[in-house]
Amino acid sequence: MESMQSPHDALASLVWQIELGATEAICDAPVNRYDLPDKITKPVAPAASPAQVKPAAMTAPVAAVPTDPVAAARAAATGAANRDALRAALAAYPHCELRLGARNLVFSDGNPAARVMIIGEAPGRDEDQQGLPFVGRAGQMLDRMFQAIGLARGADTADEAVYITNVLPWRPPHNRDPEPAEIAMMRPFVARHVELIAPDLIVLMGNISCDAGLGKRGITRLRGHWTEAYGKPALPMFHPAYLLRNPAAKREAWADLLALKARLRAGAGTGAE
Ligand code: URA
Repeated sequence: MESMQSPHDALASLVWQIELGATEAICDAPVNRYDLPDKITKPVAPAASPAQVKPAAMTAPVAAVPTDPVAAARAAATGAANRDALRAALAAYPHCELRLGARNLVFSDGNPAARVMIIGEAPGRDEDQQGLPFVGRAGQMLDRMFQAIGLARGADTADEAVYITNVLPWRPPHNRDPEPAEIAMMRPFVARHVELIAPDLIVLMGNISCDAGLGKRGITRLRGHWTEAYGKPALPMFHPAYLLRNPAAKREAWADLLALKARLRAGAGTGAE
């Protein structure tokens, strides 16, 4: 049976194409391909002379060696000596198809000297357009949360600054959740990013970030409990987008922010609780 697209799906698909930059129709009028001639006569190639015929051994296709995307990511990430090189390695990484639908690679924002590194999930529409993490509504909420404990992405001093990145640098289509294979490919890049920034503490924002950093989800259970991720003390927290949908959870988020502040004051890096 022929499947019909609902008007809602058709509109969503159109909006998505416009976001990707497909703003022009190529032809003025639709082409009815059933009216096109049946046979397209191809030019006949001239016969090869005996001298042009190569021995089979010379023309046999070379068997392609399958690439392990995670191993390729590990090699690319560990070879990056600094943040610019890491960003370039991500931009050149060919195995994650999300890059094909994204407008920008979203790498990071904030002060690389910050003691606190926040790892979010993936860019949304605003982040994809601007090439910066957490600049939409959830980003404004994130800024307000950290300002409440005296931290800001624009701060000059390491003590007052945050550095922000995401597990995925490319926006997934329709903001869908990243697939396990996509998280696995990006994990070596995040791990190297943490090594290069060398923060005192990490905040894992939401389930995808916990999945990448801890290998598990369940933010309601995980939040507020210090753990270790990428070799650093890490605090899982509710994602600001979740707080926008569930304002009652701000109470727990506030408790987590206070725990973060207390740990910074105490001199972070002192073993997971
Ligand atoms: N949500 C995220 O996790 N990261 C962003 O950059 C924006 C929204």
